[in-house]
Amino acid sequence: MGAEVVIEGLTKSFGKQAIWRDVTLTLPPGEVSVMLGPSGTGKSVFLKSMIGLLKPDRGKCVVNGVDIVQCSEHKLYETRKLFGVLFQDGALFGSMNLYDNVAFPLREHTKKSETEIRKIVLEKLEMTGLKGAETKLPGEISGGMRKRAGLARALVLDPEIILCDEPDSGLDPVRTAYLSQLLIDLNAQIDATILIVTHNINVARTVPDNIGMLFRKELVMFGPREVLLTSDEPVVEQFLNGRRIGPIGMSEEKDSAQMAMEQEMADAGHHDGSTEDVRGVVPQLQPTPGLPERQGVRRRKDRVMKILHTLPPAAQEGIIESLTPEEQRRYGVQPHAYAGAQHATRPVASGSTPSRHSGELPTENIAQLPDSGWNGPAPRPQPGTGGPRHQSPRPGQGGA
Ligand SMILES: Nc1ncnc2c1ncn2[C@@H]1O[C@H](COP(=O)(O)OP(=O)(O)O)[C@@H](O)[C@H]1O
Ligand SMILES: [Mg+2]
Repeated sequence: MGAEVVIEGLTKSFGKQAIWRDVTLTLPPGEVSVMLGPSGTGKSVFLKSMIGLLKPDRGKCVVNGVDIVQCSEHKLYETRKLFGVLFQDGALFGSMNLYDNVAFPLREHTKKSETEIRKIVLEKLEMTGLKGAETKLPGEISGGMRKRAGLARALVLDPEIILCDEPDSGLDPVRTAYLSQLLIDLNAQIDATILIVTHNINVARTVPDNIGMLFRKELVMFGPREVLLTSDEPVVEQFLNGRRIGPIGMSEEKDSAQMAMEQEMADAGHHDGSTEDVRGVVPQLQPTPGLPERQGVRRRKDRVMKILHTLPPAAQEGIIESLTPEEQRRYGVQPHAYAGAQHATRPVASGSTPSRHSGELPTENIAQLPDSGWNGPAPRPQPGTGGPRHQSPRPGQGGA
């Protein structure tokens, strides 16, 4: 199982420029999370801070008991080996062919023989659909292939945590869909903890178990996908719908006068930029048929059901509807028990219900894995509630 990453009060600035402050969240082991945020909100800086390439001003990032912010150089070097990172541009060495690029971390960090290295490199190239492209130079292949080569290289040290910086940037929607499927398939195969930072709405809606959002130098929210997908938090709603109407503006944020003017124009029928209203919980991407089921999905169900009562009604409804009838019985819940919840404009529960800009949704609970003793049959996707809608080839075939 992948490692848990506990981030507490992480704060970063460059000189006088604050990037984000007090970011607190936990990446649950073996689950896939997405961090959304408009361009320039510090998503790349966040990833680099998580692996100690940048030094945050304060806060913690703890992996396997080691705080990456405070630990010694030696510990940092050791702990970094747990991470596989896919940088935005693939970050390949232009003068090395794909084989040597992918072999690089093994030659650098291990004492493996060339025979062992060959076996690993070919396996990772096959996993990422690059078999046969070993001798190509990065400049000779497409952007999608470069991304997959970067991913193959991120995989060679068997990472427990995989960080992907905008894996979709520069790719067309079809190649993005293949890459999303590849990440889910990888997760099914190696059960690594995955964090994807992106501003791609479709990736955010269909890929992760958990979603977070950075905006105005803060973590607006972080929690189970159902919470953000049904959220009426204006920033989250605007972003997930790709609309101009809302707090996010051309540069970063806008004032209330401009918001009112834009709302007036939209009310008068002027197109607000979105193509459809996509509020609601859409089915999540499933591993390609034939691959193992994702262990993270099972663990997440147990975890989320424990904190269900703390979530807004629309999110509760979305979660319950995604369970199979057998699971609903096991957890003692029924769909429509929260009738009308989906249309509630505000969370009705009190206490631990998330508030605007809380940024601390279920952070205390998110990583607590209940010992529910699950060993029942594999959950079967239900028609229309999370079934495998996405037809795709096995890993290693087709794609960009
Ligand atoms: N090494 C650095 N030194 C100074 N400022 C930086 C550095 N790296 C990033 N920044 C600034 O941090 C902000 C966030 O950048 P970035 O993380 O790249 O945003 P995103 O990935 O969300 O688009 C930007 O204003 C950028 O100019
Ligand atoms: Mg970036």
